[in-house]
Amino acid sequence: YPYFAQEAYKTPREATGKIVCANCHLAKKGIELELPQSVKPDSVFEAVVKVPYDHTKQQVAADGSKTGLNIGAVLVLPEGFKIAPEERLSEELKEKTKDIYYQPYSDDQENIVLVGPISGDEYSEIVFPVLSPDPATDKNIHFLKYSVYAGGNRGRGQVYPTGEKSNNNEYTSSVSGLVTQISPIAPNEDEGIYGGYEISIQTTDGSIAVEKVPAGAELVVEPGSEVRAGAPLTTNPNVGGFGQQDGEIVLQDPRRIQGLLAFFAAVIVTQILLVLKKKQVEKVQAVEMNF
Ligand code: HEM
Repeated sequence: YPYFAQEAYKTPREATGKIVCANCHLAKKGIELELPQSVKPDSVFEAVVKVPYDHTKQQVAADGSKTGLNIGAVLVLPEGFKIAPEERLSEELKEKTKDIYYQPYSDDQENIVLVGPISGDEYSEIVFPVLSPDPATDKNIHFLKYSVYAGGNRGRGQVYPTGEKSNNNEYTSSVSGLVTQISPIAPNEDEGIYGGYEISIQTTDGSIAVEKVPAGAELVVEPGSEVRAGAPLTTNPNVGGFGQQDGEIVLQDPRRIQGLLAFFAAVIVTQILLVLKKKQVEKVQAVEMNF
């Protein structure tokens, strides 16, 4: 969950550029980040994180049952940019962002925004309504090109903050040997045990190793199967994954655009004047030729 990242990391983007969600969401699946090329100061624009996946697939829930996927995202905006207040949103943007809760990463990092988990079937993309800063009122902000970083995830992670593996993993054997017995584990919901199996494996030296597999994934071994160390005991139930993408945005001074337009107008007028002057010179030349 985005909340796990907030608890464990001061900022969600490591020095290498990796976004920390990837530390627990081990599978990689692409996302898309859509941004306007440039924005004016003190204006509202949309940053869109698209999290595509196959909606016909289901994942395993913590209790081993099958369920749909949820999605979440983190958006690292340039310093000074933040989520726009409700009263600045257009009706269209209000509709697109209805029921989504945008959480700043921390009190002093309003430019880093978390969303999720939200239902992946209801939302296939997350629209962030962003308010740009104004260099006229904030002296730390300049008209420049800035980087934006986004991370998006669908589906449950593989590791809990405690370091424990979730049941959304392929389980493998730690020893080589012969599967002698598979017995179901009795569910005890108060302790968070939802079933699963204990697989007894007899190794070549005669000792018995017991591998525990939680409820969720399907077994790929049966009594009598030979297994090697590292070989899978279950299928891999994970259908989700995390991805990240970088983007760029220009904080544009409207006076630059006005200046550019004025320059273009001046060029056009000059061109016309030059042509008129040429016509005039031609007329004089034509008159002189008659003498
Ligand atoms: C679940 C997103 C960081 C471990 C989820 C879910 C989302 C999500 C959307 C729900 C998936 C579903 O129900 O289908 C994110 C994002 C992160 C992030 C965007 C970064 C900002 C982390 C971190 C960890 C982690 C750092 C580990 C410390 C997990 C686990 C689950 C999960 C174990 C499954 C929980 C359960 O159902 O028991 N995450 N996550 N996530 N996340 Fe993350």
